[in-house]
Amino acid sequence: MHVSFNLAADLDAALAAAAVAAGLPDAAAFLPEVRTADPRHGDFQANGVLGFAKARKLNPRATAEQLVAALPPALRESFDLVIAGPGFINFTLKPAALLAWVRAFDSVARLRTGAAAAHAGQTWVVDYSSPNTAKQMHVGHLRSAVIGEAICRLLEFTGARVIRDNHLGDWGTQFGKLIYGYKRWVDRDALARDAIEELERLYKLGNNATPDGSPELEEARRELVKLQNGDAENVALWRTFSEVSLAAFQQIYDRLGIRFDYHLGESFYNDKVDRVYRELEETKLAEISEGALVVFHPEHPRFKTQPFLVRKADGASNYASTDLATALYRTEHFNAHGIVVVTDFRQADHFEQLFLTVKKWFAARGYRVPELHHVTFGAVTGEDGKALKTRSGDVIRLKALLDEAVDRAYAIVSEKNAELPEAERRAIAQIVGVGAVQYADLSQNRSSNYVFSWDKMLALDGNTAPYLLYAIARIHSIFRRAGVTPGDPATESAATAPETPAEIALARKLTKFPDAIRLAVETLRPHYLGLYLFELAGDYSSFNNADKVLVDDATVRARRLLLCARTLLQLETGLQLLGLRTLTRM
Ligand code: ARG
Repeated sequence: MHVSFNLAADLDAALAAAAVAAGLPDAAAFLPEVRTADPRHGDFQANGVLGFAKARKLNPRATAEQLVAALPPALRESFDLVIAGPGFINFTLKPAALLAWVRAFDSVARLRTGAAAAHAGQTWVVDYSSPNTAKQMHVGHLRSAVIGEAICRLLEFTGARVIRDNHLGDWGTQFGKLIYGYKRWVDRDALARDAIEELERLYKLGNNATPDGSPELEEARRELVKLQNGDAENVALWRTFSEVSLAAFQQIYDRLGIRFDYHLGESFYNDKVDRVYRELEETKLAEISEGALVVFHPEHPRFKTQPFLVRKADGASNYASTDLATALYRTEHFNAHGIVVVTDFRQADHFEQLFLTVKKWFAARGYRVPELHHVTFGAVTGEDGKALKTRSGDVIRLKALLDEAVDRAYAIVSEKNAELPEAERRAIAQIVGVGAVQYADLSQNRSSNYVFSWDKMLALDGNTAPYLLYAIARIHSIFRRAGVTPGDPATESAATAPETPAEIALARKLTKFPDAIRLAVETLRPHYLGLYLFELAGDYSSFNNADKVLVDDATVRARRLLLCARTLLQLETGLQLLGLRTLTRM
């Protein structure tokens, strides 16, 4: 019997080897393309035979037969094999193989070992959330935080060493106006109460008091220059702005289970941009245009004429300069193999130009070029399709948003389970409410705009956090009633191969977990894992309706409890990978 974690990958490798063993012409070029199949046709399907055979004027069915005959016996024994249509090979796991798989992958550690991917052992820097200091984090930063954290966990699970870096927007001309406002109008009580709100107020006052061409604007500029030149008072103020902002952000991160390893904001790269200018000029990638330093990309349809501005005409650095320095620092200092930056799609051009520039620059200098990924996402809109704002048109306070989620979840939990003590219902509501917000974001393709709907995200059916958390709670309750713990070895050793259609369907689904992880990691799209979990919960629910678990027959009971335990393991592991907390009662 052949047991391995990622059966699709294994079949792929085995078929490629079989092509060589069978002596097919041009065998090295054969790509089997094994994919998860439509369950009606089997578990996996090799799609690559047809094209390969046709291109070489071979008979596809005969080629498929040769390949199947050359597969190792242990593998052939595990599957029912059918050559379908003009040369597809369908593989269906036999019940004994299903049992072996379900038995083998019995812990988070086993799943994790199995899932190790090509980037195992590499260092990946993930730059996410990254709000601007002295300002409220907005819904976009929430999306970035939620998606970024899921990506961190997925990369870690598949073997990477992940560095979580919060690239704060903590530098720029706005600080001159803020200091100007602060020195005149700060309200210390307000600052102690809600620092960011007070800083936003002071910035607005500073901004209104310094119209273009006014002496007040000159004064604000002088404050900025003093800050840039290291004036003790202004630097201390600026430090306070960063500290109080970060403390406020951390309250949100705590609720989302996020801990950054570094907060290397734009200011950190201040003294690192000169090297960037020098190297870009030395390698002839950058040129001076109207006083500014710019990079063109002649091979690109737009960026051959639309420059990447890396130093402003007045000599000041900008978002591009600091991001170039950031890429270099991450490569040299962290020895990053991969860099992932998570922001909304509006920054797509910036990152495309940035990455093009980095690749050319590093190559010219002989630095290793890391894998660079800009992970984008769509806008958050209200149900009216417009950008999500409060009724008065302000940005939504994330704290208020999470609080509302928890309040709404509390009402649902209380309705469902009124007999639970209040404190427990409150604790459950925290997990369900925050989880609902996270999962609403993660359950759909991040590229689409996302419509924020309380009713949808809190619904107990559909692809939602409450639905999945409830499925988990129900499985726990079965184990409580059975009086055994999930994964109990004595129970599981009595389990036999799945027999009923619902048992078989559920066991087959469980073997698809690796493929969902692989897809989510390869595309940096967590919704593939969400979709899998939703389907798994659906197969579990059909199984639960069709086959009673706690029957008297000890063998049948053990067999079904084994499936319950593995469904639970995968649902819990999967949701935790997406950044959610799970519960045992709901
Ligand atoms: N601070 C930026 C914003 O609020 C996001 C920064 C993303 N990271 C980066 N390296 N540019 O839009």
